[in-house]
Amino acid sequence: MKAVVVYESVWGNTATIARAIAEGIGNDTRALNTSEATPQALAGVDLVVGGAPLMAFTLPTESSRKQIGADPKHRDNPPNLSNPSMRAWLKALGAGSGHGAGFETGFNWSPGSAAKRLAKGLSSAGYKTAMPHERFLVTGTYGPLRDGEIERAREWGATIAGKIS
Ligand SMILES: Cc1cc2nc3c(=O)[nH]c(=O)nc-3n(C[C@H](O)[C@H](O)[C@H](O)COP(=O)(O)O)c2cc1C
Repeated sequence: MKAVVVYESVWGNTATIARAIAEGIGNDTRALNTSEATPQALAGVDLVVGGAPLMAFTLPTESSRKQIGADPKHRDNPPNLSNPSMRAWLKALGAGSGHGAGFETGFNWSPGSAAKRLAKGLSSAGYKTAMPHERFLVTGTYGPLRDGEIERAREWGATIAGKIS
């Protein structure tokens, strides 16, 4: 089974969860950012897991990313906006025939979802939903992740792999 975990991450928390999910899936699965997850990297995949931070109750938009880049309050925690947004990545995603699943990082209390939108994007491209979308919790805007979330992500990845193999 060939799988890829693709992520958008501004401060690294979603990237950490993506790597843990990839570990859980096993089989040398890689976690790739939206620049690295090229059509070649996705060729012949049986499973695409996508993740992004929950921002303003949804998948980050170009305008929310622009605002983050311009906001002086993030000066001490510079955002990494060097890779395309997950929205742009999904828009460019070609048709696929494997399975898909979406996850997000965000606060426990928050309404809305980035992962739901993401999972819908994967399913529109033809990837059959392997698992309901999931949220992994951060304790602040810049992190850290809540205790136990990395382990939970690893288990979530293993569960998906078990379901589709
Ligand atoms: C402008 C902005 C809006 C945000 N909105 C939400 C939100 O609506 N719900 C939520 O749970 N977290 C929200 N967050 C917190 C992000 O989910 C958190 O920063 C993210 O999980 C960090 O992931 P990253 O380290 O991969 O970038 C927001 C953060 C920013 C900067």
